[in-house]
Amino acid sequence: MNLKVNAITNRPSLKLPKRYSLKTYKCLRLSRQKNVRISEHRLEKVITSGYNFIGVTKKSKLELTWIGKENRPRLEPRILLEDPAKSYHAKQRVTDNDLFDNRLILGDNLLALKALEQEFTGKIKCIFIDPPYNTGSAFEHYDDGVEHSVWLSLMRDRLEQLRQLLTNDGSIWVTIDDNEVHYLKVLCDEVFGRSNFVIHNTVKRSAPTGHKSINPTPVQVADYLLVYAKDRSRWNYKPQYTKRDFDTAYNKFIDDYEKGPAGWKITTLNAALKERRISLDECLSKFPERIIRFAQPNFDGVGKETKDLILVSRKTPGQIFIQKRDDHADIYLLKGDRILFYRDKLRMIDGSLVTGELLTNVWLDIPYQGIANEGNVVFPKGKKPEKLLQRIVDIATEPGDWVLDSFAGSGTTGAVAHKLGRRWIMVEMGDHCDTHIAPRLKSVIDGLDQAGVSKAVGWKGGGGFRYYRLAPSLLEKDKWGQWVISKEFNSTMLAEAACKLEGFTYAPSETLYWQHGHSTERDFIYVTTQQLSADQLAQLSEEVGTERTLLVLCAAFRASKSSNERYPNLTVKKIPKQVLSRCEWGHDDYSLKVENLPKAPPAPPKMDKRGQQSLFDAEEGN
Ligand SMILES: C[S@@+](CC[C@H](N)C(=O)[O-])C[C@H]1O[C@@H](n2cnc3c(N)ncnc32)[C@H](O)[C@@H]1O
Repeated sequence: MNLKVNAITNRPSLKLPKRYSLKTYKCLRLSRQKNVRISEHRLEKVITSGYNFIGVTKKSKLELTWIGKENRPRLEPRILLEDPAKSYHAKQRVTDNDLFDNRLILGDNLLALKALEQEFTGKIKCIFIDPPYNTGSAFEHYDDGVEHSVWLSLMRDRLEQLRQLLTNDGSIWVTIDDNEVHYLKVLCDEVFGRSNFVIHNTVKRSAPTGHKSINPTPVQVADYLLVYAKDRSRWNYKPQYTKRDFDTAYNKFIDDYEKGPAGWKITTLNAALKERRISLDECLSKFPERIIRFAQPNFDGVGKETKDLILVSRKTPGQIFIQKRDDHADIYLLKGDRILFYRDKLRMIDGSLVTGELLTNVWLDIPYQGIANEGNVVFPKGKKPEKLLQRIVDIATEPGDWVLDSFAGSGTTGAVAHKLGRRWIMVEMGDHCDTHIAPRLKSVIDGLDQAGVSKAVGWKGGGGFRYYRLAPSLLEKDKWGQWVISKEFNSTMLAEAACKLEGFTYAPSETLYWQHGHSTERDFIYVTTQQLSADQLAQLSEEVGTERTLLVLCAAFRASKSSNERYPNLTVKKIPKQVLSRCEWGHDDYSLKVENLPKAPPAPPKMDKRGQQSLFDAEEGN
């Protein structure tokens, strides 16, 4: 919603449009004419100030509401600090495609996702998340019981951050159980758009045995997997198959296959097995093209050519007729019935040719039992089978694509992505980032982890990852309660953090001390804790020259009111003043806890006469 600046006023002289619509309000008729656009916020003010117009109606929108929905955290874009001692790489290359730039991040995922925003917006092909289900039961490694509204707020904030990171053809997969699945669906509709909903899969995660069988309801054995595309029209689905038992409808066998259709003799499959003294499995692997069944074609549903051939075939019972087709399998007919070949049902699944059927949205074939040892880490209740992640990664990505999991748990997503040749980012705030994920991924990299999907994909090891933690907040309060730059920041960290805050790419020049980053080829940033004198500014301005511009962020500067006019290529600002109002400072924990309910938004900043935030005025001495 745009705003024409001259219309930002509540004075009676305000000109409002005769008819216009806004996100939540539809203004049908206004007492004055002239078309101007006005922000929703301003419109509300106008309405409440009693401005005289008729027929403003609230446009209703289907949405989920909850306590605190309107409050949003104003996240500080932290920098990520690599801990080289915890990063890990294979001793040698195993293939030419080994991937080393994977990232494991320790910390709260909301801040971590914000930290990734600058580099990864629009770059992640597949996101899988397995957030705490909000079941109220305390898991060993994290607090899973969170008040419903808090859970919704915090999920919303994370989903919004995640959405930004997706490529336009990317997708997000969220696993959940029936405590929150319906709320999550509505929430995801709101964040991703209902038209981008792809599918709601049901995954059987356990059997109705043990203590669960005494439940006063049918036994809950399902997890759900909600899938959204960033843009459904750009999302490509590669059809998937699941392994199924032999289809007993295929009970006929072609003898003398080598002679071609004119010489085929049809016998029963049982007779063929007996005669050849082979098992069904052997027969399937040796003669899949000879195992057949008959099916009545849907006469009304086929084309004219096929119809004609069916009629001829019915009248000529001893002969096999073939309709050759370019883009589909040829049609074989005998006595008007279609011959279906078992070979067409075979698919390569996990390295073997097996009977396959198209994947549905009910996933019963992924064993959750026996996964305790996957990755050689014990992670009761939360751990997901590698096979589940393999299916998701297979569907949603190609080798080399980025896969992200911001609730990493024991690191299943990264382990599988790594074995499948995808790049990965995982975020985990618990200690198990060090005790579970890092050792698991090291073992994958060393080729020692042969559990999970390793054998199916022939995993031999290779690649690596970098280990990061979130930098502390850039600003902290000193003993007088004033915001100052955190003592933990050295000059390199400060330059990187300031670049991020100002939207510059951090890329320090090796030759020019004042180039810490750039926003364009000609626009640079210089960050210093020094106090800059008028002479220093003059020298900087000369070095920058007329073809370039420089944003200077410094602790303080001495310059007359007209310094910006004197150095038109420089914009000089003080930190922390320049950044103070940008976001919440010193807030380290946005995890799923009631006390982390986002704070109400601050009052909008005061505008000066030109409609700018007066805080950012550059023409100011120290
Ligand atoms: C259900 S587990 C994920 C299990 C994982 N899919 C696996 O296969 O091992 C959820 C994880 O999310 C982590 N988590 C919860 N809130 C988080 C937050 N705000 N930031 C980062 N991690 C968080 C928990 O510590 C827990 O390890």
